[in-house]
Amino acid sequence: MKGIPKIPKLHRAFIEVTPNCNYRIKPCDYCRNFQRENDTIAPTDNMIHSLEYVKKLVKQAKELGAAEIVLTGGEPFLREDLVDIVKTISDEDLKTLIATNGSEVTPAFLGQIQKYEGVAIQVSLDSLDIKINDELREPGAYSAAMNAINLCKKYHVPLQISTTLTAKNVAGIQDLVDYFPDDKIKLRRLVREGLAESRPDLFVKEEDLIRIIQGIVLNSKYRGRVAAEQIPYVFDCDGGPDVYRCSAGNSIAFLRFNGDVTPCPSANFVVGNLDKESLKDIWEKNFDSFRDEQYRPFGYCGRNALVSAPRGFNVPHKIMDLNEFQTYGCKCTG
Ligand SMILES: C[S@@+](CC[C@H](N)C(=O)[O-])C[C@H]1O[C@@H](n2cnc3c(N)ncnc32)[C@H](O)[C@@H]1O
Ligand code: SF4
Repeated sequence: MKGIPKIPKLHRAFIEVTPNCNYRIKPCDYCRNFQRENDTIAPTDNMIHSLEYVKKLVKQAKELGAAEIVLTGGEPFLREDLVDIVKTISDEDLKTLIATNGSEVTPAFLGQIQKYEGVAIQVSLDSLDIKINDELREPGAYSAAMNAINLCKKYHVPLQISTTLTAKNVAGIQDLVDYFPDDKIKLRRLVREGLAESRPDLFVKEEDLIRIIQGIVLNSKYRGRVAAEQIPYVFDCDGGPDVYRCSAGNSIAFLRFNGDVTPCPSANFVVGNLDKESLKDIWEKNFDSFRDEQYRPFGYCGRNALVSAPRGFNVPHKIMDLNEFQTYGCKCTG
């Protein structure tokens, strides 16, 4: 193994700008953010509620090498200062990705962010079948997402679509991918967190996952456009051809609303809290176990939960018992 810096750059920081969501008729069936349907956090319990605090985090992330900030939640559009947050990130010359359910994406908002460089929007859409999509997510979620997608195109705001794979929508994934021939699509495996913990019926069968990996993710027809997250053996490891490692805690970190820092949005291992330590200290001192053993090809990271795989490995060598591990490392986008 070569070329592994002792303390890698924090390439992408995820900021959970609010844990709350406007999908309150029911949250998405599998939402990793909620334990119960009515979880809502008072704004004062959100450590990241002030613009000043976001600014501080963005600056700290930049000092650690960040090139991009992902604004996620909950639903980031609940933040009334979202445009100011985007400006803050742009002022630091960093890229922004806003992960959203699309419901609050408006022409006015897109008009306002158009003037900032490097801002992209990620809209969640799980199925082209309205019934399937809205049953998984919220009534009206399909038209909200489609509207947001069309508006981003109209206003030339870079767009990606995020699709979470479940037993309910898996049959229609190929159609969805083909329906958007010019757009980037992230296919995510369901992570057993939050509401998903009590929905074993939603997890995709291994044979369906292999079909998607082989037929779509690794199909040259979709190269550069369709990517996978949280799917073992197909994530694009960022350590170069000789080093195989997951980006969690190596090039990404997730900053939760309550100050907790975890290696990625899907791995619920708290390594520190911003109330007690600076992001720099946490990044430099608390992620060791994510930077050791996971360099082994086909190995597990020190926390026994993230898996690493070699770049370009294109045939599932051994599909893990998907229920055995809560989560897998990946280049996550929110
Ligand atoms: C947590 S949401 C936050 C942003 C926004 N509210 C949205 O729905 O896009 C970000 C992405 O994570 C996905 N997601 C939520 N729970 C998940 C889970 N348990 N496993 C995998 N992905 C999940 C959502 O479908 C969405 O695409
Ligand atoms: S996935 Fe996004 S839209 Fe759905 S309940 Fe969770 S935060 Fe809200």
